[in-house]
Amino acid sequence: MTAIANPAPVQSAIEPHARAQFPLLQPTIGMPMLDLRSLASRQGCYAYDPGLGETGICRSSITYVDGERRILLYRGYPIDALVENCSFLEVAWLLTNGELPDAGQLAGFTRDITRHTMLNEQIHAIFRGFRRDAHPMAVMCGVVGALAAFYHDGLDIFDRRHRLVASHRLIAKMPTIAAMAYKYSLGQPFVYPRNDLGYAENLLAMLFSVPCEAFRLAPAAAKALEALLIIQADHEQNASTTAMRLVGSTRANPYACTAAAIAALWRPLHGGANEAVIETLKAIGTVERIPEMLRRAKDRTDPFRLMGFGHRVYKSYDPRAKVLRPLCQEIMASLGRSDDPLLRLALELERIALEDEYFIKRKLYPNVDFYSGLIFRALGLPASMFTPIFAVARTAGWLAHWNEMIADPETRICRPRQLYQGPAERPLVAIADRQPCPPLVG
Ligand code: SDX
Repeated sequence: MTAIANPAPVQSAIEPHARAQFPLLQPTIGMPMLDLRSLASRQGCYAYDPGLGETGICRSSITYVDGERRILLYRGYPIDALVENCSFLEVAWLLTNGELPDAGQLAGFTRDITRHTMLNEQIHAIFRGFRRDAHPMAVMCGVVGALAAFYHDGLDIFDRRHRLVASHRLIAKMPTIAAMAYKYSLGQPFVYPRNDLGYAENLLAMLFSVPCEAFRLAPAAAKALEALLIIQADHEQNASTTAMRLVGSTRANPYACTAAAIAALWRPLHGGANEAVIETLKAIGTVERIPEMLRRAKDRTDPFRLMGFGHRVYKSYDPRAKVLRPLCQEIMASLGRSDDPLLRLALELERIALEDEYFIKRKLYPNVDFYSGLIFRALGLPASMFTPIFAVARTAGWLAHWNEMIADPETRICRPRQLYQGPAERPLVAIADRQPCPPLVG
């Protein structure tokens, strides 16, 4: 990983007199920010930034991403060092507590998480209320939100003990919920978590074991899943983490906030991209069809996009894809899947896209989802289960941000402004005098 030098001070485009009225907030590393909280009172206007791509919504010390320098740090530690040297639970502790745990702390945290992996038996009935073919992310949204109806000792967000219990409970139970959603879709019995297995091993056992035979855990699979969970654990103010913070700013309970974050993660522009990558590769089908599909991906009139490419922040290679690419080939080889036609197609697609002017000009590189989907597939999961496992990992990050937000004295209810472009005030027209109007929706 390259060392991080503080970038040269940024010359803002704001007029000097305007800039003088707005203090410049300096980060530890990265671009400074104008403090615009008094913008309306001093300038008589608001800022306009749809998608919040140029706006900081909070102070945070958890994760730092530098899209140009391919840097991803969790509490200052480079992502590849964490993947190579730590377990997922070590990283989950780091994200929330700010430092890596010592051996005693890790042992206590691991014991605590391990002993809270089971769900209240009544919650099993909630699964049975869903159709078998429900998308597992729909099931996870429902079940996680319903946890607030069962665990009342984690609802008082101003009680430190409640926050700790709810955070540990969610980290512990998300793998169980994801695995139960998968088993329910198969019509197979739920598999209970085992206290003799590690976090990733337990998840694999709950996903793939059946009561009628002993479960053979492939060490390479556990290693690959542990790495994926670490890599997907957090990523600054992405859409689902922002959803967690936004819902949390209303003082909602952590289960409701996490259900909202799951909903935000679900779809293809965010966490659902790994599922969409497999669909994209299947739509391309063969290496020979890559040129035709690249043409469609570049055509603005064609909705087809090359899923797994591009990123709002990374305008260079996603450092997570850099870690996952060799891991993908390693896990494919160890599980005897190297000849997987989709892997070969993915590597050829990556090679061609990285040489294509359209992608180069727009700085569209493979992102984390390009390879995570292939690894999940090598582990034997259906594409519908990729994002639920992403949600398991990201729960550690969501909770770290939620706890940080509650402790932040600057936290206020999140209530953005808008640029109103509707009609000015007008008199009501009696129904007898109205003209038919085309519906705006539908
Ligand atoms: C994640 O925020 C996070 O940190 C998210 C995440 C996390 O860990 O939480 O990193 C996880 O969500 C990764 C991203 C997964 N999504 C995908 O792989 C979906 C495919 N990617 C795109 O939809 C897109 O790149 C986004 C949504 C990821 C980013 O969109 P931006 O930054 O708003 O960029 P844009 O849509 O404005 O695109 C800029 C140009 C456009 O072309 P022009 O209008 O300039 O002609 O690039 C084109 C886009 O059409 N473009 C693509 C493309 N992505 C962008 N063209 C073809 N294929 C693509 N994938």
